[in-house]
Amino acid sequence: MKIKTIGVLTSGGDAPGMNAAIRAVVRTGIEDGITTYGISRGYEGLINGEFEKLNARSVSGILQRGGTVLKTARSDRFKEKEYRDRAMKMCSVFGIEALVVIGGDGSFRGALDFLREGMKCIVIPATIDNDISCSEYCIGYDTALNTALSAIDKLRDTAYSHERVTVIEVMGRHAGYIAINDGIAGGADAIVIPEMEYNFQHDIIKPIMEGRNRGKRDHCIVIAEGVGDTVNIAKEIENTTGIRTVCTILGYIQRGGSPMARDRVVASKMGFKAVEVLNEGRFNRAICQRDNKIVDIDIEEALKMEKASFDYDMNLARVLAM
Ligand code: F6P
Repeated sequence: MKIKTIGVLTSGGDAPGMNAAIRAVVRTGIEDGITTYGISRGYEGLINGEFEKLNARSVSGILQRGGTVLKTARSDRFKEKEYRDRAMKMCSVFGIEALVVIGGDGSFRGALDFLREGMKCIVIPATIDNDISCSEYCIGYDTALNTALSAIDKLRDTAYSHERVTVIEVMGRHAGYIAINDGIAGGADAIVIPEMEYNFQHDIIKPIMEGRNRGKRDHCIVIAEGVGDTVNIAKEIENTTGIRTVCTILGYIQRGGSPMARDRVVASKMGFKAVEVLNEGRFNRAICQRDNKIVDIDIEEALKMEKASFDYDMNLARVLAM
């Protein structure tokens, strides 16, 4: 039977482009005769029944805005069956037959738990960490990458003037996607990510000293937050090399800002695809980008997929850092 009423929510850390995905879900739904409820504050709002019917106008003017107009949260309560049951009751009160969840890994797992209890779910990957393995791309990544890159460029200017080492910590939770690609784009002397073991002397001090001996007077080290201990690494660099070393933790600035074109386009395509899949009567699917195409795969399968190795990119970054 054709789905008539759905809910859409954003969950986990916000990511630029989430609004474009919400807009696409609502407007594609309207085209297909589907009523969409916006659920506030992720799974918390689902438990609390914070539902509001959305129309074409409710999602106008949001495409260019960072963050999420639905608000977001990380819900520990939703991990407990008692609260998922409560959420299920709220869905039945509003006649919600399927849910579109826009978020990262934790949001995917929440959807998996909920679908095992009978709710039809479609998930859309949105996280600046870009660490949903089933998809080549997650909404928000490009904007975060560019926000961090513009900060790296600025920090390199001042490091150049003062002939310092600048150590920059970027976000990514347990993943090194922002670090590796901003390290390459920002010309870092060394990149440290949680996925790869590193040797302090060999992987950080040696490239700095080799650069020094080739006449380089400023150095940039990009570290993913998942490595931990960025401040101590910076102190150790100064102690070992004798070169003044400053440390900047970029933090939440990476999550904000108007989404770049890529995030708006991918989010629009993924939101459109989510409703298309529901309309075709296929449920419990993850929307992904694979071979540059927007496709859907089983959520459980999606969560089992492994990340590609960073070895090649790390070597490339090392060679170009001379
Ligand atoms: O998942 C996105 C992210 O920004 C990570 O990079 C970071 O580790 C985490 O969220 C921070 O989460 P919170 O907003 O809960 O502090």
